[in-house]
Amino acid sequence: MAELLGPTLAQPGALGTNLGEIHREATTCRRCNLYKHATQLVFGEGPTSAKVVFVGEQPGDKEDLAGQPFVGPAGKLLDRCLEEAGIERDACYVTNAVKHFKFEPRGKRRIHAKPTRGEVQICAWWLAAELRLIRPKLVVALGATAVYSLLGPQAKVTRDRGSVLRSPAGLYVFVTIHPSALLRMLDQPAGRQSRARFVDDLKAVATLLEHA
Ligand code: URA
Repeated sequence: MAELLGPTLAQPGALGTNLGEIHREATTCRRCNLYKHATQLVFGEGPTSAKVVFVGEQPGDKEDLAGQPFVGPAGKLLDRCLEEAGIERDACYVTNAVKHFKFEPRGKRRIHAKPTRGEVQICAWWLAAELRLIRPKLVVALGATAVYSLLGPQAKVTRDRGSVLRSPAGLYVFVTIHPSALLRMLDQPAGRQSRARFVDDLKAVATLLEHA
């Protein structure tokens, strides 16, 4: 049943009446093993009154060090694309499906490692609480991990991209790709087109918010 309904719905999420309280509680999270190697937990950021919440996968190397979501290369690309789409970044709440950086050490570098479904489900405890307290008009799922966390295993980025799906928790979820996927494509022939399509997705989000 939990698999069918989607991880975020399958649990109530952290209790608590404000994001500051939940953030403080999350800081010492030991619900899975990812805390062991990460520098710190990276909680969501933005106004509690945000109409839109962007959900990524997990903090990257820069985010892990800074303690803030989307401040590295993917975040900077997201910022530029949001601006082009006419969405004010400071009015958005930005967070991740998984709140600790998962990586494999490679010499001095830390290479991003994909979280398992189990890790995503466990961490939905925090995401569910963020969404319960913010009650956004729209959630934007950036990439497959966010889609899985919010909508469960039936939803697919390639098939559902550009659509708004109703999550089992009753949220409206707009599906699109993760900006990291774009970063990897920018120097390829189709890179410009992919970037333009991502900005178009964000323009669709802007239009939905105007009518929300
Ligand atoms: N990628 C994510 O999914 N989240 C971040 O915060 C940064 C990069």
